[in-house]
Amino acid sequence: MKIAIIGVGYWGPNLTRNFAKHPDVESVVCFDLKKERLERVVKDFPGIDVASSYDQILRDKTINGVVIATPLSSHFELAKAALEQKKHVLIEKPMTGSTQEAAELIDLAEKNSCALMVDHTFVYNGAVQKMRDLIDSKEIGDILYYDAVRVNLGLFQGDINVVWDLAPHDISIMDFLLNKKPVAVSAVGWSHYDKYEDIAYVTMFFADNCIAHVHVSWLAPVKVRRILIGGSNKMIVYDDMEAFEKIKIYDKGVEVTTKEEVDKILVQYRMGDMYAPKFGTTEPLAAVANEFVESINARRKPLTDGVAGLNIIRILEAAEKSIKNKGLVVEL
Ligand SMILES: NC(=O)c1ccc[n+]([C@@H]2O[C@H](COP(=O)([O-])OP(=O)(O)OC[C@H]3O[C@@H](n4cnc5c(N)ncnc54)[C@H](O)[C@@H]3O)[C@@H](O)[C@H]2O)c1
Repeated sequence: MKIAIIGVGYWGPNLTRNFAKHPDVESVVCFDLKKERLERVVKDFPGIDVASSYDQILRDKTINGVVIATPLSSHFELAKAALEQKKHVLIEKPMTGSTQEAAELIDLAEKNSCALMVDHTFVYNGAVQKMRDLIDSKEIGDILYYDAVRVNLGLFQGDINVVWDLAPHDISIMDFLLNKKPVAVSAVGWSHYDKYEDIAYVTMFFADNCIAHVHVSWLAPVKVRRILIGGSNKMIVYDDMEAFEKIKIYDKGVEVTTKEEVDKILVQYRMGDMYAPKFGTTEPLAAVANEFVESINARRKPLTDGVAGLNIIRILEAAEKSIKNKGLVVEL
């Protein structure tokens, strides 16, 4: 299999390294509009080929898969052109700038029998997969809330706000963990320096008793990567900044009874043990590369396929609309 990586800025070289070491990948060819980026890739990864144009990649019939790691504004056009040439496509998050574009790519991939995958890297993270096992096993109970914070002094992006940049991580983790989709979104955000919001608070409502919130910011003095998941039985804390024990399971919660004669609720706290489960530590991006290759080989849909990408774009689009309308609740 021959794989092309388009865009070798910050993230593209990580994809290049992981595809280059995959046993089923014979060769990797990179393309970037900036020559110096290609020169650096050649220096860092001996044996990697480079192309002089995207057209050269599209015309090369020996290239089976195209990986798009350019800024969001070019994802749709690059992916569409590759799918039209019947090449399998892996797109970086967020998949596209609109649900309409995402749906068009899904249809085109279907029509041309191509794999279409989105790099929701955290879905391939051992800690996230462990949390999914715990939730599926019912150990956590019914999920009452999902609360994520992803803030630091982040890199201001040139074409998107902080919601489109950072929230895809937390929303794709949520989409993978909870067996349900939100029914409405309300978001507020603020831009202090540029036209794009640099801080935002996104709330998602579900049809049942569950609520989710994602706080993203490029303006925090410290780096926080923390998700709290509250269940009716137990609660999970996932702190990605912890070197060890990134996931902690707390046997804590509340039990509520109603005292009918006084029409008052009685809340009792359950303070049980905490434990930190072990999980697999394979590099998530190696698992992403493997899933793309295996889905092509087996002619099956990848775990994070176009529809998974579209689910996230639908929420981001609604959040953007809500931000423009000062937190208006937007139905999904
Ligand atoms: N999955 C993750 O954890 C993760 C992490 C970081 C970035 N990303 C995603 O990866 C993508 C790229 O982000 P980045 O931080 O590497 O950006 P970047 O700006 O550092 O690099 C993008 C590269 O793409 C090149 N480029 C732009 N338009 C092009 C085109 N039409 N053809 C060829 N090359 C082109 C640029 O010259 C640049 O070198 C974004 O979609 C981003 O959201 C994902």
